[in-house]
Amino acid sequence: MKTQLFQKDFITTQDWTVDELQTMLDVAFKLKADFAMGVPQDHILRAKTLYMLFFEESTRTRNSFETGMTQLGGHAIYLTPKATQIGHGENAKDTGMVLGSYGNAIAVRDCRTGIGQRYLRELARWSPVPIYSMQEDVDHPCQAMADLMTLQELFGRNLRGRKFVISWTYAPKYVRPLSVPQSLIMLMPRFGMDVTLAHPEGYHLMPEIMEIARRNAEEAGVKFEVVDDMDAAFENADFVYPKSWGPIMVTEDEAEVEAMAARHKDWRATAKRMKLAKKHAVYMHCMPIDRGHEADDEVIDGPQSVIYQQAENRLHVQKALMALTMGGRW
Ligand code: CP
Repeated sequence: MKTQLFQKDFITTQDWTVDELQTMLDVAFKLKADFAMGVPQDHILRAKTLYMLFFEESTRTRNSFETGMTQLGGHAIYLTPKATQIGHGENAKDTGMVLGSYGNAIAVRDCRTGIGQRYLRELARWSPVPIYSMQEDVDHPCQAMADLMTLQELFGRNLRGRKFVISWTYAPKYVRPLSVPQSLIMLMPRFGMDVTLAHPEGYHLMPEIMEIARRNAEEAGVKFEVVDDMDAAFENADFVYPKSWGPIMVTEDEAEVEAMAARHKDWRATAKRMKLAKKHAVYMHCMPIDRGHEADDEVIDGPQSVIYQQAENRLHVQKALMALTMGGRW
């Protein structure tokens, strides 16, 4: 167990070793069990403050971070650009140095393409307290860690040889960022899984992230493949994670995005497709799900679905992250 994590940023899982990430999971399992038994936890971050800055809306991320701080005895403050001087152009240095002089960590969601993760890095350069990603344009590390926790909970710590599929799906409503599929292809190979990425033409991910995923797979001695066929991807899968993302590497123009997506309406998680995977295979999604487009209700609400466990585990991994990076010393 690696416990020298006090004050460490969490912007991408790539900045943490496998041992450090496993420590976060081990602490999350302990906090989850203690919480279920009513063991008090409100001494861990007593009187500490987390600032949560959201450039975009959220259900799970905001509420799991805020609730987590309450359970650990601290306080979380919800901020938006409009509710601060960020909306008037205050820069990352000024925001990071000032908030960092009041509280104990700053968490940010900023999915603006080409801006989000750079903004977090700039905050981290100046802030005296840890910076956490609550999702940006490149990565969604807390989501990926909750997903990994769910898989370890269901299948044990040794996931070597398991086939993990992240597949694009159709969804009409808005352009979803690349951060979830990118966070998964980077993280899962490091924990021994063979990863298959499936998407139609035009939905490729950032080349530098693909390179990291390939390198991670090579170093871990596992497979990383890219296919353009959802059925082929599902075959013999242990874990399937079908979700939509935008053709951001090609266009973000709404009309073009809609026209491109409309050509692939058959990219949906169906009961028939689930049968191509192994019998014990689980269906995963980070939520929110576009029901009837990304997946059929019978899959989302079916016995193979673990989506609510994934969502719940957001709370526990983030509590572990905060306890380890904010709570270690006084
Ligand atoms: N999965 C996830 O990040 O959900 P929210 O957008 O609701 O936070």
